Amino acid sequence: MSQLPRRRFIQRSILLLGSASTTACTSTQNPDDSVVPRKPNAGSSPSPSPPEGSPPKQAPPLAEPPGVLVGNLEQLAPGSARVASYKGLPLIVINDGGQLRAVSGICTHENCEVEWRAELGIIQCPCHDGRFDTRGKVLSGPPPAPLLQFGVVVEGEQVYIVNS
Ligand code: FES
Repeated sequence: MSQLPRRRFIQRSILLLGSASTTACTSTQNPDDSVVPRKPNAGSSPSPSPPEGSPPKQAPPLAEPPGVLVGNLEQLAPGSARVASYKGLPLIVINDGGQLRAVSGICTHENCEVEWRAELGIIQCPCHDGRFDTRGKVLSGPPPAPLLQFGVVVEGEQVYIVNS
């Protein structure tokens, strides 16, 4: 073997080895390895209890109430009503045959406070005898517009008023 071919053989071998090692290094890397999130505590034992003397864990905050609490369902038997306040406005919450309704407690005529008349099943204004049904619709008298309606939400046994 002459000197020149042997030198070329060695140069080619070095080039091939260098290329092979670069390929081997890059082929063992998984590009997805760097973006796979690790699950917290995956495969590990449960977290240890807090050290002695540390304050107890606090309960998570309670869920936000859906609206302004009016009372319990048992306080609103069918045919009865409760006066409530919603953002400073008096409201009347009525159990109309099992359907809960809430209307403004302020008459649309001259702003007198209206009243629930259970014996008549209507809302009546004492000032000029304006009368409204349980949905606030004017039945008779001078009121020019119905009473404002509000939404009612029942959660468990609790009754809330929500803006409609
Ligand atoms: S203020 Fe209610 S009817 Fe006049």
